[in-house]
Amino acid sequence: MKAAYIEKFGGPEVLKYGDLPDPSPEPGQIVVDTFAASVNGADWKVCAGDYAQPGFPVILGRDFSGVVSAVGVDVRDLKVGDEVFGVLEAGRDGTYCEKIAIGAAVVAKKPPALSHVDATALALIGLTAIRAVEDTLKLKSGETILIQGGAGGVASFAIQLARHLGARVITTASAGNLDYVRGLGADQAIDYNATDFRKVVSNVDAVFDTVGGDVAMQSFAVLKPGGRAAFIASGTQAPKPDRGNVASLRPAVGRDRPALERIAELHRTGAVRPPPVRLFKLADAAEAVGISKARHLKGKLVFKVR
Ligand SMILES: NC(=O)c1ccc[n+]([C@@H]2O[C@H](COP(=O)([O-])OP(=O)(O)OC[C@H]3O[C@@H](n4cnc5c(N)ncnc54)[C@H](OP(=O)(O)O)[C@@H]3O)[C@@H](O)[C@H]2O)c1
Repeated sequence: MKAAYIEKFGGPEVLKYGDLPDPSPEPGQIVVDTFAASVNGADWKVCAGDYAQPGFPVILGRDFSGVVSAVGVDVRDLKVGDEVFGVLEAGRDGTYCEKIAIGAAVVAKKPPALSHVDATALALIGLTAIRAVEDTLKLKSGETILIQGGAGGVASFAIQLARHLGARVITTASAGNLDYVRGLGADQAIDYNATDFRKVVSNVDAVFDTVGGDVAMQSFAVLKPGGRAAFIASGTQAPKPDRGNVASLRPAVGRDRPALERIAELHRTGAVRPPPVRLFKLADAAEAVGISKARHLKGKLVFKVR
């Protein structure tokens, strides 16, 4: 099969495109012929060597949409020809390729109304936003949430989800993306280059930070006493708050079928729209990962594999 992969760690330029062996299904696994796979923030971190890997070559990529082409023993609920989408098991990478093997229990059937491109564009960002906003922050109707980095993939889903839950949403973005985040449903959009969010936001119930670094640490200041903050761009541990009486949380982005079905349901009901997508060929993976690494992407980059 064709794949985009690395044989050493480094910047996006170390990505290669070529032939690697086809996978075959272990018990409980299916093989999926990939139709689309998306670029996520994790991919350039994996490329740089930020996460432990079992050995080279490493195929990048975490989410996908495609068609089941083989079924391992013990798989009873999926069959060859089913359209499925999902995210590889935690700690695994390897969807920038034509075929993947994955546990059947962590994929979901792709609704016909959702294209392969939109399904992969929504998969990891949706899973992450659901884990953070619903499962970790347990955001409730009537609460106010500050979502940092509103124009990014995860945040774009989180804004729509928070609004759907009945919360008031404040978000941060650069000037050129303010209309975009308002269109997603943000009640208040702050140009982070012009305004320090701490001067105009206070007493919020919850923060969801997708930016990391100083932005993450500064976010504690705007919480009300008893408020809670969730962080996905500050490593594997939640940052230690610089004040008392607030909760600092690191969502566990576990994979399972019900969360993917929740994404499909949120799309079906119109609560969440797919992000704007720019299409790439797998052979151009280095360019796509480079754009993601620059950290000013609006929407998603998707490989149209078939
Ligand atoms: N399992 C997990 O834990 C998990 C899962 C998914 C993602 N993540 C992590 O979450 C982070 C976000 O991922 P993503 O895929 O959503 O990223 P992304 O799509 O690449 O988004 C980056 C966004 O950040 C915004 N941004 C950059 N600097 C900013 C600042 N100072 N203030 C506000 N916004 C700023 C940019 O918007 P402007 O152009 O408007 O600046 C851009 O839209 C990454 O670090 C990723 O690795 C973790």
